[in-house]
Amino acid sequence: MFANLHNLSHHAAWRRQLEMILESTGEGIYGIDLTGRCIFINEAGASMLGYTPDEVLGRPMHYLIHHSHADETLMPVHDCRIYKAFTEGQGVRVDDEVLWRRDGSHFAAEYASYPIRDHGGVVGAVVTFNDITDRKRTETLLREAHDLLERRVRERTADLTAAHDHLRQSNESLRRLSAHLNSVREEERRHIARDIHDDLGAALTALQLETNWLKHRLGDEANLTERLDRMLDIGDQAMQAVRRILNDLRPGVLDHLGLWSALETLLLDFQARNGIACRFVCAETIEHCRLGREAEIALYRIVQEVLTNVARHARARTVVLAAEAEGGNLYLSVADDGCGMCVPVQPTSFGLLGMRERTLALGGRLDIVSAPGEGTRIEVRLPNVLVGVTS
Ligand SMILES: Nc1ncnc2c1ncn2[C@@H]1O[C@H](COP(=O)(O)OP(=O)(O)O)[C@@H](O)[C@H]1O
Ligand SMILES: [Mg+2]
Repeated sequence: MFANLHNLSHHAAWRRQLEMILESTGEGIYGIDLTGRCIFINEAGASMLGYTPDEVLGRPMHYLIHHSHADETLMPVHDCRIYKAFTEGQGVRVDDEVLWRRDGSHFAAEYASYPIRDHGGVVGAVVTFNDITDRKRTETLLREAHDLLERRVRERTADLTAAHDHLRQSNESLRRLSAHLNSVREEERRHIARDIHDDLGAALTALQLETNWLKHRLGDEANLTERLDRMLDIGDQAMQAVRRILNDLRPGVLDHLGLWSALETLLLDFQARNGIACRFVCAETIEHCRLGREAEIALYRIVQEVLTNVARHARARTVVLAAEAEGGNLYLSVADDGCGMCVPVQPTSFGLLGMRERTLALGGRLDIVSAPGEGTRIEVRLPNVLVGVTS
């Protein structure tokens, strides 16, 4: 149809072709003159508005189909953007307004309005329009789904944040409880140690003295002397057992000579009992430094548990305990050359967990450096426990 268009000279033929184009398009198309009256409208456009084309021709289009907004407030003609095409001589595209049907209902419309020019002057406007109800509905549904999703995400995030806070608080409470239980346990141990020392220790000593006295009074009664010697031996053993128990409960050396001597004694005992060579490397700067009761007992218990683990699991030949100062911070490590292990370890084992909790309670951190076949090194770092020490 278009191929021969430029050859057509007859006005009627042009008209026919143009009419065919206008009628065939699915979009509504109409034209208005400078007074806003309809000078043509295609079938599709008229039927979208509920009219026949003849019913629309000559009518003022703004008042017929574009008089009000969707909320039924009036749209004054000087606000009408369709008119802008000829009042301002330039085209507009609009998709946020409605057009009104003959039956008083309206539909969401998209329209474009362009000036019609004749011999250089604007003589009217041509408007193409479409019913975009479905598109708007889809957009609304999409926006609602999006808003819903956003709301759900916000709610979930708030829930998760609350749960996370709750968990953190429980965690902190548990940590405080664990630290409290540790100090209660140590205090209890001190009490028991004092009671055993004062009551049992004194009674055993008195018993030894009495038995000795009896032995000397009985003179030559060979049978009885033998018996009394055996009793004295048993008394000695009991005294040693009491001393050992007391030392386990509360290492006296820790109170009297401080952490470093207590650790040295612990290592010597461990070496003698397990046949594992032990070395203690203590930096000179901190040799005479006391750390406070809480920190000293915690570090002592940590090293005690590390050594128990070495004896129990490591199959090691040597152990090196090192203490260094890093500014005011203390760095303590216990390294063995045993079988090593995979880290991180299961959180179900309480020895390592207890060490970590004790370190955290002092505001420090504990690291386990190990791999199968490569030995194990437990590192403890405590901040600001070495007052006045420079490394
Ligand atoms: N020095 C070590 N060498 C090798 N394995 C170790 C060492 N210390 C700990 N482990 C491993 O870590 C696990 C957890 O230790 P721990 O928490 O003290 O629990 P437990 O000693 O009661 O098994 C041990 O069972 C052992 O497998
Ligand atoms: Mg253990």
